[in-house]
Amino acid sequence: MIELVKPAKPNQAKINAYLAQILETGYYTNNGPLVQKLESDLAKVLGVSHVLFTANGTVSLELALKSIHAKGNIITTPYSYVATANAANWLGLDVRFADLLDHSFFPCPNKMESLIDQNTSALLITQVYGLVGPLEDYVSLAAKYNIPLILDAAHAFGVTFKGRSVSSYGDLASFSFHATKVFHTVEGGAIVTNNPELRERLFNLRSFGHRGDQYLSEGINGKNSEVHAAFGLAQIDQVQESLMNRKRIFDLYIKSLTFNGFTPIEIPADLEWNYCYFPLLFDDSAAKEALKEYLLDKGIMSRRYFYPALNTLGQFHPSHCPVAEDLACKVLCIPHFAALTADEQSYIIDTINKFTKK
Ligand SMILES: Cc1ncc(COP(=O)(O)O)c(C=O)c1O
Repeated sequence: MIELVKPAKPNQAKINAYLAQILETGYYTNNGPLVQKLESDLAKVLGVSHVLFTANGTVSLELALKSIHAKGNIITTPYSYVATANAANWLGLDVRFADLLDHSFFPCPNKMESLIDQNTSALLITQVYGLVGPLEDYVSLAAKYNIPLILDAAHAFGVTFKGRSVSSYGDLASFSFHATKVFHTVEGGAIVTNNPELRERLFNLRSFGHRGDQYLSEGINGKNSEVHAAFGLAQIDQVQESLMNRKRIFDLYIKSLTFNGFTPIEIPADLEWNYCYFPLLFDDSAAKEALKEYLLDKGIMSRRYFYPALNTLGQFHPSHCPVAEDLACKVLCIPHFAALTADEQSYIIDTINKFTKK
């Protein structure tokens, strides 16, 4: 079976050396030297002032919302992985979904504006597939109403827009470093910000709300370990090479697939992208389901990222987002990861092209 994603393998010599260091020093967790090194290396790579390494991307979102004292409602996208909206819902916030712009993966800024009221405490936007949508409009909207903009940048590691790290456009941005991501620490995540006050608050929130004997705020255990940091440090130098492989694989798909009944995503010229997913956008949902079944039969995994539209899930207040609901039925992601071999990719291409000719 060709998997949808294969986790990147860290450099073996480096991981061995870091694990030996952990065993020798006995420093396993609690803001140790490897966590601090990873945070400072990531700050350089991501072009932001402060990085807090966390247990995972979901906890990052929860901490980000806590750090801005979110209450009342937040406005978010119905087109994302469920963790985005779950994080806000878990904190007892009223999750309001703004439907997407037509022919886009991103919520419509005007629809978002119509949902804002005096109880709105954040705009939470996913950089879905590492793309940005009308990012500058979200920044303006947040500024107009003086509401924090939180970016769920789980897919956007290393992406820059108009020469700036995508994550720097929000007051806060949250990353997932789950094993399936472009950069990973097996499990893990990060919150990034350029605001030193938010950084201090997040530092306390992440660690039970106290530093030593000083009990400073509410808090949870959102930190991550030296072992997870070691997996990140043993990979961080490979990210550029991995992005180049992803680009090569992307370009070959674009060149070789006969786009019949579906189209690839478009990459805006001012976006330096990370080639994290290869979604196919179908004209109709039945054709997408048929290809999914066909690929499975031929030993190729694919996935309906992202289905269903989040507004249709039972844990949220019912709302209607017809554009998102339609889109969610028409997208299928096919295998796209740095270690995909030439033989595997050519088999995938031949299989899909045979199917579309039928
Ligand atoms: C958009 C998005 N947000 C949040 C998350 C949650 O991250 P984690 O799995 O690290 O909790 C994911 C995970 O895949 C994601 O895709």
